Amino acid sequence: MSPAAEAFWQRPKTSTRSDALVFFGATGDLAYKKIFPALQSMVESGVLGCKVIGVAKAGWTLEQLKARAHESVQTHGPGVREPAFSKLMSMLEYVDGDYGDPATFTQLKSLLDGARAATHYLAIPPTLFATVVEALAKSSCAQGARVVVEKPFGRDLASAEQLNRILHQAFPEQSVFRIDHYLGKEAVENLLFFRFSNTFLEPIWNRNYVESVQITMAENFGVQGRGKFYDETGCIRDVVQNHLLQVIGFLAMEPPSDLYWESVRNEVADVFRAIPPIQPEEVVRGQFVGYRQEPGVAPASQVETYAAVRLQVSSWRWDGVPFLIRSGKCMPVTATEVVVKLRRPPLRKLARRDANTFRFRLGPDVALSLSARVKKPGTELVGETVELAAVKRETSDEADAYERLLTDAMNGDATLFVRQDAVEAAWAVVEPVLGNVTPLHFYEPGSWGPPDADRLAADLGGWDNPAGTPKSP
Ligand code: BG6
Repeated sequence: MSPAAEAFWQRPKTSTRSDALVFFGATGDLAYKKIFPALQSMVESGVLGCKVIGVAKAGWTLEQLKARAHESVQTHGPGVREPAFSKLMSMLEYVDGDYGDPATFTQLKSLLDGARAATHYLAIPPTLFATVVEALAKSSCAQGARVVVEKPFGRDLASAEQLNRILHQAFPEQSVFRIDHYLGKEAVENLLFFRFSNTFLEPIWNRNYVESVQITMAENFGVQGRGKFYDETGCIRDVVQNHLLQVIGFLAMEPPSDLYWESVRNEVADVFRAIPPIQPEEVVRGQFVGYRQEPGVAPASQVETYAAVRLQVSSWRWDGVPFLIRSGKCMPVTATEVVVKLRRPPLRKLARRDANTFRFRLGPDVALSLSARVKKPGTELVGETVELAAVKRETSDEADAYERLLTDAMNGDATLFVRQDAVEAAWAVVEPVLGNVTPLHFYEPGSWGPPDADRLAADLGGWDNPAGTPKSP
């Protein structure tokens, strides 16, 4: 490779490294469950060495926040890991104040102490974004800084556009890092890696060879005390518009021209733009029996805890291939799995549907396998399906996803963050089926959801349950 070409491929993926991390909502649930454990790991691995400033209005002292951090790593992390934990505590500062009070930001500014590229992580409800973003701008804390925000990015296209306008008042799009924690999962990133680092896949990864793609995200628990949030959200907004469409983005995208982050994000956004808005007849919504008795849930709630969707990616590569998504609470198991089925081979005597199936297990463990038909030993021409190759890793990557994404944000690498146009295109895909446009069917907890969803997969041999669980009747 010529030196010029080599330099091109080694083009740095990162922009300026952040020299301060500010997290709003420091006394909240997200900080407690995810952020403190991630910060400890980041200090341990040497990627975090700058000032860390928590901001909240709780009437707390710095000592109280440190005690909370201690409890957090014990309860939701690997426990206290020394010397990383003590180092994190020595880096930690705290501002206790109202987000609407300019004094809060004056104090923050002085603690930032000339930091030139702070990362502001808004671990707060989106309703507070406008106040905080405006105050960051007014106090010049936004200058040279970047902002990290959590889902939900709006609740429909119009509110997502509005949210983006608010963020852009103080931060250009290149400085906005929208977290979808699915993109921080090892197994999800592996979809990208697996697709573009293997030659054998490319010739078959298209409408000529792939018959269907199914994604199941099943959870064997209910709303876990989040009834109020969930009842304002529902399954389509909670996981389909974001996590599961992002998975489709990685499965269906064209090869990026290189690994520079905008190259990858351009291709993902193109996938969303190629998906026609989902029509009501392509959706089945369900609600588990007992949901309405959950605290915070309306007694006559019409909100879905289950959704099955059939969509198309109308691109040159995928036109005509059905993409099916199914997700639900109170399912028989907890597992997220992608099943990509190749078409049946033509020789009638041997042909069998489902002969070649790629299975990507995305969580809670990680696995990848390809099934193939081989002859059973004996005189008869009878076959059996075997797993040709399998990767299996027992891992719970939830905490790692936050660590990974915060590290990337601090480094200014936006590859695994959702860009404005992609968020808006994803909303446009689900927009026609938000709310109560489609009927709601009830299902028993512990079942695979309403039987009405079977019609969406009927011509494809039915839904494929995650590996290790029997096929639905
Ligand atoms: C969250 C949703 O974004 O993702 C939850 O709000 C869901 O309802 C969770 O349970 C699933 O994440 P994971 O990483 O456990 O698959």
